Amino acid sequence: MGRLGGCVNTGSARSRLVSWVVGVSVISMLFATGATACVALPAPAPPQPPDCTDPVCPLAAAARGRGIRVGAAVEADDLISNPAVADAVRRHFTSVTTENALKLSVVRPSPTLWNWGPADTVVAFAETNDLEVRGHTLAWVNESGSQNGLPAWMRDLNDPSEFRTAILDSVSAVVGRYQGRVDRWDVVNELFEYPVGVQAPSAFDRLGPDYVAELFEVAHAADPGAELWLNEVFTEVFPAKGDALVALVSSLRDRGVPIHGVGLQTHLTLSPAAPNPGSVSGLVARLRALGVEVAITEFDVPLGPLRTEQQQVDIYRQVTAECLSAGCTEITVWGVGDAFTTLDTAGQRQNNPLLAAFFSLPSTPLLLDVNLRPKAAYAAVVAALQRTPTPG
Ligand code: G3I
Repeated sequence: MGRLGGCVNTGSARSRLVSWVVGVSVISMLFATGATACVALPAPAPPQPPDCTDPVCPLAAAARGRGIRVGAAVEADDLISNPAVADAVRRHFTSVTTENALKLSVVRPSPTLWNWGPADTVVAFAETNDLEVRGHTLAWVNESGSQNGLPAWMRDLNDPSEFRTAILDSVSAVVGRYQGRVDRWDVVNELFEYPVGVQAPSAFDRLGPDYVAELFEVAHAADPGAELWLNEVFTEVFPAKGDALVALVSSLRDRGVPIHGVGLQTHLTLSPAAPNPGSVSGLVARLRALGVEVAITEFDVPLGPLRTEQQQVDIYRQVTAECLSAGCTEITVWGVGDAFTTLDTAGQRQNNPLLAAFFSLPSTPLLLDVNLRPKAAYAAVVAALQRTPTPG
């Protein structure tokens, strides 16, 4: 929803919080006084692109034409239970990411129980439909919100050698099972603290100070042909995390550790403001200079009172173009369509109060609408894929 002009009272506590985070001083002063302020009124939504019923829709066609991947996170249950979801994935995307199926909490819920069904479903679907697979994720480090993908029994193994055996055996078993079938792995996910670039304390510290390198080595031994990636969140808003990523990747590459890519999640859920121009392309360029691939791996851009649909479109266009201009090889969104976003779940909103404060429910953050039809943001990403020059 765009805005034209009008006057409203602006004195609520929520508005004050919004103004603090957005950091716009004039708006801040108006909100703090509770005065009546003139702000924008709803304007027409951007035009929607026509629906696509072709076997290969413009997003997938543009990605294939450019030689990069466009992906979506998927759940096995949705592929099985909803033919429209399976159909949309095979027509609009060229890659799938296992949203939860390959987290150890799902794959190995107890020491003796291996639950391969969901991951097998996603991988088989990808093979049938000529899609690539990003395996997500072997070691989710930052424990904020206790959502780090480790099963409780593993997190509770305080004896370092027992923990080591459990983790390393699991990583070997999971990567080994899908050898030659999962193209690339998020080996380590969300390593750094918010907002600073220091490694988050976690259960993984029981492996010793160089565990990141060790996890990559173990995954590489299990499938020498797979690409191994580090995946991080909020680098577009916290430059210190980007600096820490660059320093770590540089050190791993210098030591010959098998790391092939860095994923920038790009969940734009901390503030309605667009990423600073150049923040995405600058980081991508620094990482690419180290000899690794870079991708956007979990893109979503929720709407709210301070982020209109037109702004969503513009942000999708800007971030995609920046990433591609610096040499990104993948753009993946975190959900097939707006009906499947994780941002509308209670757990996400409890774990990220700013998401709850700034963004609507439903937040409609993705490229396909609730009926799996392309949105204006979809057309913007297609245009960026078609028009952004590749780096020389
Ligand atoms: O499957 C169980 C179900 O049996 C149970 O009834 C239900 C009750 O709560 O929970 C279900 O599991 C939930 C699971 O999603 C599947 O829906 C978990 O509680 C819930 O914690 C889990 O949330 C996932 C979250 O990671 C934590 O693992 C989200 O779906 C998933 O989108 C989200 O993805 C993360 C990435 O892995 C890393 N980057 C951030 C991203 C978004 O938070």
